Amino acid sequence: MTDRELIHEAYEARKMSYCPYSEFAVGAAILAKSGKVYRGCNIENAGYNPTNCAERTAIFKAVSEGDTEFVKIAIIGGNINTPIDSYAYPCGPCRQVMREFCDPDSFRIIVAVSEDKYEEYFLKELLPKSFGPEYLQ
Ligand code: THU
Repeated sequence: MTDRELIHEAYEARKMSYCPYSEFAVGAAILAKSGKVYRGCNIENAGYNPTNCAERTAIFKAVSEGDTEFVKIAIIGGNINTPIDSYAYPCGPCRQVMREFCDPDSFRIIVAVSEDKYEEYFLKELLPKSFGPEYLQ
């Protein structure tokens, strides 16, 4: 699965976004080490707090299907009324959820404007000096 292909999956996932309140639609696609790809979109709520981000939707779908190890994630987001022109970086809680299941040194986070224009980071770059499961072993 190339980076371009994973970005395309995130782009398709974004079409399912339920975002009537913010009108900010986000799509994510995460590649598991098994080879399977899980899509996720943000799902908002009238109560605001129960809103789930696209990244966590994708990760929770994967974990609930038995996939708990991951290679990389692609994220694409922006207002529904305008073309995507900037990067939607993952929020703090989503970074911490990645930290639960992904190796900070090798897991890659791809934030995209399009299949041709994207940035990529290792999880450790976006979540330095982090707290993870090994602290509780
Ligand atoms: N959102 C995501 O889906 N992922 C992020 O990492 C940041 C924010 C969503 C949540 C909400 O539905 C909308 O974007 C505006 O915050």
